[in-house]
Amino acid sequence: MADRVMIFDTTLRDGEQSPGCSMNVEEKLRMARQLERLEVDVMEAGFPVASQGDFEAVKRIAGTVERVTVAALCRAVAQDIDRGWEAIRDAKHPRIHVFIATSDIHLVHKLKRTRAEVLHDTITAVAHARSLCRDVEFSCEDASRTDIAYLCEVIEAALGAGATVINLPDTVGYAVPEEYGAMFREVRARVPALGKAVLSAHCHNDLGLAVANTLAAVANGVRQVECTVNGIGERAGNAALEEIAVAIRTRRERLGVFCAVNTEEIYRSSRLLSTLTGMAVQRNKAVVGANAFAHEAGIHQDGILKSAITYEIMTPQSVGIKHSTLVLGKHSGRHALKQRYAELGYALTKEELDRAYAEFTHLADQKKEIVDEELIALLDVGVEANAEDYHLLGLHVSTGTSIRPTATIELQKGGRKFVDSATGDGPVDAACKAIERITGMSGELTEYSLKAVSSGVDAVGEAFVRVVFDGIQYNGRAVSTDVIAGSVKAYLEAMNRAVRSRRRKDERENAVHAAAPAEEVRSS
Ligand code: KIV
Ligand code: ZN
Repeated sequence: MADRVMIFDTTLRDGEQSPGCSMNVEEKLRMARQLERLEVDVMEAGFPVASQGDFEAVKRIAGTVERVTVAALCRAVAQDIDRGWEAIRDAKHPRIHVFIATSDIHLVHKLKRTRAEVLHDTITAVAHARSLCRDVEFSCEDASRTDIAYLCEVIEAALGAGATVINLPDTVGYAVPEEYGAMFREVRARVPALGKAVLSAHCHNDLGLAVANTLAAVANGVRQVECTVNGIGERAGNAALEEIAVAIRTRRERLGVFCAVNTEEIYRSSRLLSTLTGMAVQRNKAVVGANAFAHEAGIHQDGILKSAITYEIMTPQSVGIKHSTLVLGKHSGRHALKQRYAELGYALTKEELDRAYAEFTHLADQKKEIVDEELIALLDVGVEANAEDYHLLGLHVSTGTSIRPTATIELQKGGRKFVDSATGDGPVDAACKAIERITGMSGELTEYSLKAVSSGVDAVGEAFVRVVFDGIQYNGRAVSTDVIAGSVKAYLEAMNRAVRSRRRKDERENAVHAAAPAEEVRSS
């Protein structure tokens, strides 16, 4: 039977103390309630001696949370431990977490204490904590840079004084996975008493290895892992809770362990933390980033639509995200486009899809991501277009406050190309005049409107025109990220309608003429 790995969340302590992540008491309380829904095993609520605010937050959390162990961090000094205990004593499951640095680097440069003094402080502090609380965690700060023999000595002393959990942090994120795992292997072999305690890992992400190091520790007997939501924490952060929980769940067989986190609450926890702290989650962040379940490449989208297992190793629902997103952009294929239209309620025929896809790829060249409103706007574009229409090949306008607007237009009809230029009252007027010079179709613009279909600087605008040709009014509509190009296309659509209707009229008249001689013969 697989072993359970306890999830020790330190979002409210190691996470909250990092720049840009501070929360007030009410905010911490909200986050604590969410951590309880997430079903972490332990939450470190704060460092009570650090400030009155921290003390109050820990006390309120301890009085609120019921199912999760609430830990308070304390240095290895009686005053800290007493204050910490004061804050958590009302908790259903309290834990005092005592720490002291054990590496020579910290002893010499920070604590200015000898190894013997630190050993003594360890015993005194742990024993004092244990006299107050049944659950005492002891951490050797900077354990991964501590001399292994001395580390074992300190661990043995802490266990002897009553510690129930021994945590060996990679405080500065310096270790690499094999090395960090080996440290746990070594201490377990050298300190048999560890068999009765819970061994814990606590990793920082300075080399981007926090989660890998944590998993290496688990592979070497660690059964408590310390982490934070969204990986917030000192410097480059702590190991990300969501990454660890999901790795354990997804690779359960390989890792041979499980954890009890309710992974479906992961996304909500991530969003809440981000909202409370204002700290955005990077788009490509594993598990909770906006791109974690988004697919844009056509081949990927096609694979996902056939079977999600092709490009997704876990379901978005398993981490509380409603569904994967197929981002429609220039890499997307027809299959994904058809699917999105279907989701929007449009069952497209092959011809409709072909036309929509042509318009879509054209638009996707102009903007990164195409949103639903824009897709809907694309549907009606060029519905009646045919090979005899004039198509816009190129448009160049020069305009400004002190020059007369000039437009050069390049059109194609059948296999032929036409170019001409004109000036006008504005760039659109100049372009319409250039079209008139090419086509001989003279129209009067009676209505013209522009509206944004989407938002943002690369929003798609929809141009609508009504133009009178030969006394008849024709409408034209086009969508584009460029308002002048969109307006010219809308004008061209109206003009093409007029050309088609003129052509149909000519065809009808020719048919009448062709029939006329027979009539005349009969009537003469
Ligand atoms: O990184 C660290 O060493 C810590 C300890 C206080 C547990 O956060
Ligand atoms: Zn830390």
